[in-house]
Amino acid sequence: MAEKIKVELDGVPGTLLWNLYHRAAEARRPDALLEDPRAVELVESIDFPFERFGEPKMAQWHALRVLTFDRAIGRFLQAHPGGMVVALGEGLETQFWRVDDGRVRWLTVDLPETVEVRRRLLPDDPPRRRTLPGSALDLRWTDEVDTDGGVLITTQGLLMYLQPEEVRSLIAACAERFPGGTLLFDAIPHHLAERSRRDDLPGEGAYQAPPWHWSLDPGEHRQILGYHPNIADVRDLRYPRGRGALAIAPWAGFIPLIRKLRMPIVQVRFADAVSAA
Ligand SMILES: C[S@@+](CC[C@H](N)C(=O)[O-])C[C@H]1O[C@@H](n2cnc3c(N)ncnc32)[C@H](O)[C@@H]1O
Repeated sequence: MAEKIKVELDGVPGTLLWNLYHRAAEARRPDALLEDPRAVELVESIDFPFERFGEPKMAQWHALRVLTFDRAIGRFLQAHPGGMVVALGEGLETQFWRVDDGRVRWLTVDLPETVEVRRRLLPDDPPRRRTLPGSALDLRWTDEVDTDGGVLITTQGLLMYLQPEEVRSLIAACAERFPGGTLLFDAIPHHLAERSRRDDLPGEGAYQAPPWHWSLDPGEHRQILGYHPNIADVRDLRYPRGRGALAIAPWAGFIPLIRKLRMPIVQVRFADAVSAA
């Protein structure tokens, strides 16, 4: 058996291992909602005590979250064959392999310590798949984006760890620099973010995610629309249908008691031409 690769990441970069572990747990099931053989291979090839995350009880929910992103990316690629996807804070996501249409160009941007790990486990394959070390907040990554065939920016599991002012300026910068482009992000609802800041969330195993600083409730779009005049449309995406209790996932927004408890996945469209500020 090949020797496992040791991965040591703390703080926010360490959270990518929780996501990977849960994707792999779902993908291993015979009735899996998510096909992700690369996530399974990665978990098997990494030397890390994944058991510290406990039973992967959130695997199905996490798979629905990931599938919501995959489907939005699939729609973008159908409309923009050969377009460019920029994945900010991509960690060890294996999304490229789940959605690749043979033409997409993919740019991963993540912190240097995470990129070092990603490049060891998922080496770049230029010109279609490249990885750039640096903070999403350092806008030099925008110079690497070829806007000719259309641009989609994804930030899956990232914005909640940033400060509100950082989120505002990142979204505004995308609106300014990528007219006609689309941004996808997920968010933590306010009530959960407040609990995480009070250290009042039930941990899983011995694991507790770092505190969430930025939050947004489902349907709270006015705040995002106000970030930049070039933001033309903001909408929550529907989760796909899950198994068992999660069969209602696509309709959760219509059920009063759980409406506000959901983690919104938001699609933001930028107008074609930059409006006068
Ligand atoms: C919860 S993980 C999400 C990973 C991946 N998107 C996923 O869904 O599995 C958070 C990711 O954000 C990255 N990150 C944290 N701060 C960042 C920043 N300022 N710029 C870019 N990436 C950042 C971490 O290194 C990590 O990969």
